Amino acid sequence: MGLQRKDMLGLQDVSAEEINLILDTAVPMKEILKREIKKVPTLRGKVVATMFYEASTRTRSSFELAAKYMGADTMSLAVATSSVQKGESFRDTAQTIEVMGVDTVILRHSMSGSAHYLASCLKASVINGGDGKHEHPTQALLDMFTIREKLGKIKGLKVVILGDILHSRVARSNIWGLTKLGAEVRVAGPPTLMPNHIEKLGVEVFYDLDEAIRGADVVNVLRLQLERQQKGLLPSIREYHRLYGLNNDRLKLAKEDVLVLHPGPMNRGVEIAPEVADGPHSVINEQVHNGVAVRMSLLYLLMGGGDSDEITD
Ligand code: CP
Repeated sequence: MGLQRKDMLGLQDVSAEEINLILDTAVPMKEILKREIKKVPTLRGKVVATMFYEASTRTRSSFELAAKYMGADTMSLAVATSSVQKGESFRDTAQTIEVMGVDTVILRHSMSGSAHYLASCLKASVINGGDGKHEHPTQALLDMFTIREKLGKIKGLKVVILGDILHSRVARSNIWGLTKLGAEVRVAGPPTLMPNHIEKLGVEVFYDLDEAIRGADVVNVLRLQLERQQKGLLPSIREYHRLYGLNNDRLKLAKEDVLVLHPGPMNRGVEIAPEVADGPHSVINEQVHNGVAVRMSLLYLLMGGGDSDEITD
């Protein structure tokens, strides 16, 4: 059985069963990545387009590779050199892409809600590759896949999401997903970067990082979104690092086998010390690798996958 939905817009409206289906299906997808010839014909004849109105390295590249490994054709709208620059609207641009025969559009946009809007305009499936401060569902899925693979479960784990919660779509998608799968989620950061009423999402709020980290199984460090900061939210970058930067001394407060995640790109020496980013607890490169498998799984389940024998061909 595939997913009984057209789009993947966020984890808020996705059930625990659907999340587990995506994570379970990513396991055989990861096996495909180990082969010398990383290609299956499952999505042959299908077309996946990326429309990224904001910069990306990981999300766009891994969706393109995931689609190619599954046998689909891909096209990438180069927004900076497209007719968007002549004033073509978001909707007209997307519909123009769709009528060329695109089955699935991966969208990244600075406006929260843009993926929902696009999904309402198109017959094609829409996958949210990050919309403003709202959601980044595939990042949370690959984070959960990595945690589950490394620690064997999600339920009951103490997961700290650390840093710029206010601007983070990664934080929101992780909160929805992890709480649905039964993790105990803590959010930690400065009061100015903590959204009002975040505790209503079922998380515990900490302003003291040492307290938050004590006994943690996982620390997911968020990028300080320097491009989205308004004046006055931070005293200085140095102060932020002193109070909320993850270093080896702080990490000693967590469980012995704690995992350190970061969605990337990292501001080394700001939210994470290089010794932690490159240290034995870091699974940051594994997250990126797993992202390809998770996106293969999602494309497969949304674009008509169903019979698991098909992915072994
Ligand atoms: N984590 C993430 O979304 O990275 P990119 O901005 O490089 O896609």
